[in-house]
Amino acid sequence: MEYRELGRTGWKVPVLGQGTWGIGGFYSKDESKDAEAIEAIRLGIELGMAFIDTAEAYGGGHSEEVVGKAIADTKAEVFVATKVSPEHLSYESVIRSAKASLRRLNVKTIDLYQVHWPNPRIPIRETMRAMERLVKDGLVRFIGVSNFSVSELEEAMASLAREEIVSNQVEYSLLERGIERDMIPFCERERITVIAYSPLARGKLSEPDKHLSKDEADALRKLAEKYRKTPSQIALNWVIRRPIAVAIPKAARVEHVRENAGSADWSMSPEDYELLCRVFSRRL
Ligand SMILES: NC(=O)c1ccc[n+]([C@@H]2O[C@H](COP(=O)([O-])OP(=O)(O)OC[C@H]3O[C@@H](n4cnc5c(N)ncnc54)[C@H](OP(=O)(O)O)[C@@H]3O)[C@@H](O)[C@H]2O)c1
Repeated sequence: MEYRELGRTGWKVPVLGQGTWGIGGFYSKDESKDAEAIEAIRLGIELGMAFIDTAEAYGGGHSEEVVGKAIADTKAEVFVATKVSPEHLSYESVIRSAKASLRRLNVKTIDLYQVHWPNPRIPIRETMRAMERLVKDGLVRFIGVSNFSVSELEEAMASLAREEIVSNQVEYSLLERGIERDMIPFCERERITVIAYSPLARGKLSEPDKHLSKDEADALRKLAEKYRKTPSQIALNWVIRRPIAVAIPKAARVEHVRENAGSADWSMSPEDYELLCRVFSRRL
């Protein structure tokens, strides 16, 4: 699996990670599919997607517990990213949330701790002060944000005294290309990693005939045939074509995990990449 530098940390992460929204439940705890989810995450790690993204909010915290179980006795080095919810961004709440996430994940350090969504009611300076405290205490390795605009990102960057913002996790796929306008150029300039969420447009790109226009579906299918890949693999390969980006598709089914892992370590020709950009241009 190809690795890319996270921000300008010198630390490298796999270009494909694993998302976990819905694993362990959506808005509250659901233990009914834990065994399958653990199997899927472990397979993903084995196939090189040793970068797991979760959040304290997912499944009311149970997603972190499932991730904790999945990575408990793996020998692979797994990069674990989680998020603090917008209602927990005061200094004390950030510290409390991080400690609770560490317990549920059963790890000593959170590799990447992200502010899940901005909260205009709490000064970002206060949140970042807590984030730096966590790094200083060795509980967090790197600080990231999610769903931040360029101006919110600039404010967060300016609030840090010693550390840097290493990533912004934002939606990015062939169907959602808004970040190409200003976020990607900004992150390229500042060397902030773009962690692309919903890179399969929540599964829509995996079923082109059901969800896409005829031109879009035809283009995806044609390239899938040409490269002997699937539409999902073409769609994910398109996202990680940008060197500043890594992607975190979520797959609870092992066959999907296997398929997604086959989206990296090859590239389509520049002409085919441009063709997809053209065909999906109304998604910009
Ligand atoms: N920061 C944020 O605010 C935010 C927001 C949204 C998402 N995220 C993160 O990003 C991750 C990914 O985004 P997402 O879950 O919204 O959407 P996604 O990864 O684009 O799509 C996930 C959906 O696609 C299906 N799928 C995955 N691989 C497939 C394949 N090869 N063939 C067919 N179907 C496939 C999955 O099914 P199965 O599960 O049944 O395999 C699931 O229903 C999340 O899990 C979460 O970690 C973050």
